[in-house]
Formats: sequence, C-alpha cells, structure tokens
Amino acid sequence: MNQNKFNLMESWLREVREKILAWLDEDFTIEEKTGRSDLVTAVDKAVQDFLVAKINTHFPEDAILAEENGMDKTSIVSGAVWVIDPIDGTLNFAVQHDNFAILVAYYLDGTGQFGFVYDVMKNKLFSGGKAFGAKLNGKLIEPVKKRTFSEGLIGINAGMYRRNSHQVADLADQTLGVRVNGSAGLEFCALFEGKLLGYVSRLCPWDYAAGTIIAEQLGFSYSDLDGQPLDYQSWQPFIIFQSSLYPEAITILNSN
Ligand code: IPD
Ligand code: CA
Ligand code: CA
Repeated sequence: MNQNKFNLMESWLREVREKILAWLDEDFTIEEKTGRSDLVTAVDKAVQDFLVAKINTHFPEDAILAEENGMDKTSIVSGAVWVIDPIDGTLNFAVQHDNFAILVAYYLDGTGQFGFVYDVMKNKLFSGGKAFGAKLNGKLIEPVKKRTFSEGLIGINAGMYRRNSHQVADLADQTLGVRVNGSAGLEFCALFEGKLLGYVSRLCPWDYAAGTIIAEQLGFSYSDLDGQPLDYQSWQPFIIFQSSLYPEAITILNSN
C-alpha cells in the first residue's frame, strides 16, 4: 500500500511541476498573509488543491495537514496523514521565480513512512523513507560523508542569525560559514547533497516533515534547539545536523 501511495504521489508531483512551469509564464495573484514578507500566491493554492484532490479521490480515508486553505491543524498522531507544503519558499517563488520546493510527507499512526522534497526548477526530486532508502530522481543516494565543523558550511534562518537566537553565531563560528536559502526544502536538498553540515531555523510541521523522513536515511539527527523531539503541531525552533556533529551542536546552542 505504501509503495502504491509513494508511486502515485511521485507521478502527481511530476505532473504538477509541469503546471507550475506554465503558471510561471502567466500573471498570478500574490496576497499578504500576516505581513509583507509572508505571502501566498494563487500557485501555492492551486498546487495544494491539485494534490489534495488527487489524495481525496484515490485515498478518501486519509487525512491531510497542509499549509494553505485552513488545513493546518490536522494531527499526524493517528491514522494515515499526508503533510503538504505546496510551495516552500513562496517569497523566492514570487520575487525570483526560482529557489522553491514542493514538500510532501506521509505518516501512519505518527510514524513517517516516506517523504518527497522537490526542487522544482532544477527538477531534482528527493524521496525516501525506512522502506525506500533515500533517492534522487529514483537513484539511491548514499549517507553523507562525515565531516568536522571546520570542514563545512551551515544553513541558518536569516532572522535568527541576525538576532543571534540561542547563540547560533557561536555554532556558526565553528564552521566555514553561513548560507541562507530562503526555503527550508532547499536547505534539506543541500544537506542531502553534502553541501551543508546542518541547518537551524524556526519551522512548521509541513516545513520539516518530508525532509526529516529522508534525512533519517542519510545520517542526520534533528530536534528542537533544546534537543527535544518536535511536536508536529506548531511553529518551533528546529535543528538538523550530521549525526556525528549533532550532540556538540546542541551543547553549543545551550551553553549559556
Ligand atoms: C518558509 C521557508 C523559509 C523558512 C520559513 C518558512 P514558506 O516557508 O521555508 O525558508 O525560514 O520559516 O515558513 O512560507 O515559504 O512555505
Ligand atoms: Ca514552508
Ligand atoms: Ca508554503
């Protein structure tokens, strides 16, 4: 059953990518949600509507937790639950027409079965889960090469770095430097490809659900900034790191 769901979602994501490329050539409406940098576009809503309609048609029993259209309160704790961020990096999408991702995860009774992180413009579809391994466009990828802090870069949310939340600058100082993508999904892609050692942000469940399921297959550990499990309900401080570096990263963030 999981394989059937995985295969169908993969085909729906490929299909909706073609639609997004066409929509990018047209004018689409952009609305503010809570402020001028918190946007939703007609494309965010159309992508979510497309995926929700497919799930409802093929798997009417399944529940959905999704960012837009008032679907953002569903619990993942019991039953079959899909978690969707239709466009992750909406600000990039609206301003740059680039650097955004589609994120989809599937949970059964609170356990992540598989996730998809789709870098739409590069056409890189990462997928994975315990029974699936981790793949890029259908080809297995290996766990990341272990590195020291001084051998790599870290992704940090720009606002958290500016405010030095949780002494995040002390952690950054251990590394070669900081990079900011503006899309949690693309930060996960960079982690999977060994381009980042870790990533610190404040995220909602639909931002981290798919990426963390794949990351478990590739040698990463993740939690809130105190090292506690994520709640899959609210906006939370979030850290993910190569597992060999994760304990020290948590120690640094909580050292004062
Ligand atoms: C946002 C992006 C951003 C992260 C924010 C998210 P959205 O997602 O992933 O990088 O810093 O916390 O809300 O709103 O573009 O889907
Ligand atoms: Ca998002
Ligand atoms: Ca979004």
